[in-house]
Amino acid sequence: MRIILVGFGVVCQSFARLLLLREVELVKNYGFHPRVVAIVDHGGAIINSKGLDLKKVLSLKAEKGTVAVSPEHGRLGMSPLDVIGSVEAEAVVEATPTNIKDGEPGLSHIKAAFRSGKHVVTTNKGPLALAMPALTELADYNKVCLRFSGTVGAGTPILSLAKKCLLGDRIVSIRGILNGTTNYILTEMDEKRISFQQALENAQKLGCAEADPSMDIDGFDAACKLVIMANWIMNKKVTLKNVSIQGIRNVTVRALEEAAKKHCTIKLIGSIQDGLKVAPTEISRHDPLFVGGVLNAVTFVSEFAGEETIIGRGAGGMETASAILRDLLDIKQSLATRLMA
Ligand SMILES: NC(=O)c1ccc[n+]([C@@H]2O[C@H](COP(=O)([O-])OP(=O)(O)OC[C@H]3O[C@@H](n4cnc5c(N)ncnc54)[C@H](OP(=O)(O)O)[C@@H]3O)[C@@H](O)[C@H]2O)c1
Repeated sequence: MRIILVGFGVVCQSFARLLLLREVELVKNYGFHPRVVAIVDHGGAIINSKGLDLKKVLSLKAEKGTVAVSPEHGRLGMSPLDVIGSVEAEAVVEATPTNIKDGEPGLSHIKAAFRSGKHVVTTNKGPLALAMPALTELADYNKVCLRFSGTVGAGTPILSLAKKCLLGDRIVSIRGILNGTTNYILTEMDEKRISFQQALENAQKLGCAEADPSMDIDGFDAACKLVIMANWIMNKKVTLKNVSIQGIRNVTVRALEEAAKKHCTIKLIGSIQDGLKVAPTEISRHDPLFVGGVLNAVTFVSEFAGEETIIGRGAGGMETASAILRDLLDIKQSLATRLMA
């Protein structure tokens, strides 16, 4: 499988490392021979149709800041759209920053990949949150696959548990903690009885909250994930517009103390039942969703199997890279099944 990496930040550099670490097992255990033929970042691209030396590219990125300065294979200023349109490959891994205003540049990258007959694996929630029904249709129309395991729960296989392990059952509702930053802040507030502002500052010092934390604390990140789950798992045709969103800025220590008296706490819960909703919600300390720190947790209620909860880390470079690898292997398997049919 020839692969183009669009974006070469934390996630795709981790993916390159993972490929280097697993090279032998991937061939031996899965018959999988991934070959990264192009990588694009802000500075331009690096292209080699025979396969890039990932160790060298990682050093180059660390030393020079862009892969495009490679004397042998660099293309300074070459855009992702030019690379996707002109380089022969089976799959594009799209991992540019999430933008929930217009989904760009990821949205255009994904559409361009489909138009040129390439499968897409993305970790970028923006295009999916804004246009998932249209994107899945476009993928079907172009007879290519779109996979996005890393967008929900990073390496924790939340989407796969619901879609694959509960195959044949009908999921009737979903509730979950879908954002590690807000869970960290609420856990700190609950355990140390410190204010929202203090807890946010602690999270920023530790690097688990962005300098501009709005995407997390105002509930948008959790809402994006909810949209992806509603479309993929429950076949709802929804976008971010359909989610009622309330973040955690107004959660007070007082409210947490009141909740504690009832053996409860407050968590930022995303739920899909009658509608899609993200809001600070009281839950019992015995609820399986009562997880601390940066953990994510999701409870699926299905018609026959009942209630299942999956818990795991919801972010991290290597974690998310493992989801990309899973998606690529899944695409390989889907193609093999198609060929046999
Ligand atoms: N990090 C995580 O734990 C995690 C987990 C789940 C999902 N995600 C999602 O995965 C995506 C990637 O995350 P990340 O942590 O790897 O982000 P990142 O470190 O900021 O990397 C983003 C990459 O995209 C490149 N880029 C941005 N705009 C570009 C453009 N217009 N043309 C070409 N390249 C462009 C950047 O280039 P330069 O390097 O030249 O700046 C950089 O290499 C995001 O959407 C994020 O929300 C991340």
